[in-house]
Amino acid sequence: KNIAIFASGSGSNFQAIVEAVRAEELAAKICLLVCDNPKAYVLERARKARIPTFVFQPREYASKEEFEQQIVTQLKERNAEFIALAGYMRLVGPTLLREYEGRIVNIHPSLLPEFPGKDAIGQALAANAKWSGVTIHFVDQGMDTGPIIVQERIRIADDETRESLQRKIQDTEHKLYPAILQMLLTRGEGK
Ligand code: GRF
Repeated sequence: KNIAIFASGSGSNFQAIVEAVRAEELAAKICLLVCDNPKAYVLERARKARIPTFVFQPREYASKEEFEQQIVTQLKERNAEFIALAGYMRLVGPTLLREYEGRIVNIHPSLLPEFPGKDAIGQALAANAKWSGVTIHFVDQGMDTGPIIVQERIRIADDETRESLQRKIQDTEHKLYPAILQMLLTRGEGK
């Protein structure tokens, strides 16, 4: 199956997926990286992994509809069948959803519906939560609201720091995301 990954930042989840494909733990081809930030480190990772990229600057388009139309064109050119958002810092709009709803998933660093949106880790710490975790869910028009596929709980220690919690969450994400993508693709999602 051809999958496209969308990312805006460092791309450690992108990297984990690349490595899972390489190790043949994930039977997929990453046909495209879509990135809305020309300075993102994920682009360096894609270059090293020889994965094609579509990089765009939202402000150069008149509307979300216009840049999403471009994205759809690129996805179709590459025959993308499934989309994994991995730190894509933007709401997916109707243009993309019309083409791919049910075939787009996202990973979020909290136990949704708790702490949606930006800086979920900071939100969990500020709330003195005892537990946080990772959620993988289907994407709908809302912010981190679509049907949940899987969640993994992570204990927040009394002396937890932002760095230590982030490390725990990322370690979990990097194992969980490739495994769940493999499950979704073999169960026939995306066709
Ligand atoms: C991850 O924590 C993911 O859950 C969230 O954004 C972060 C992306 O990190 N949606 P990276 O760019 O994959 O390192």
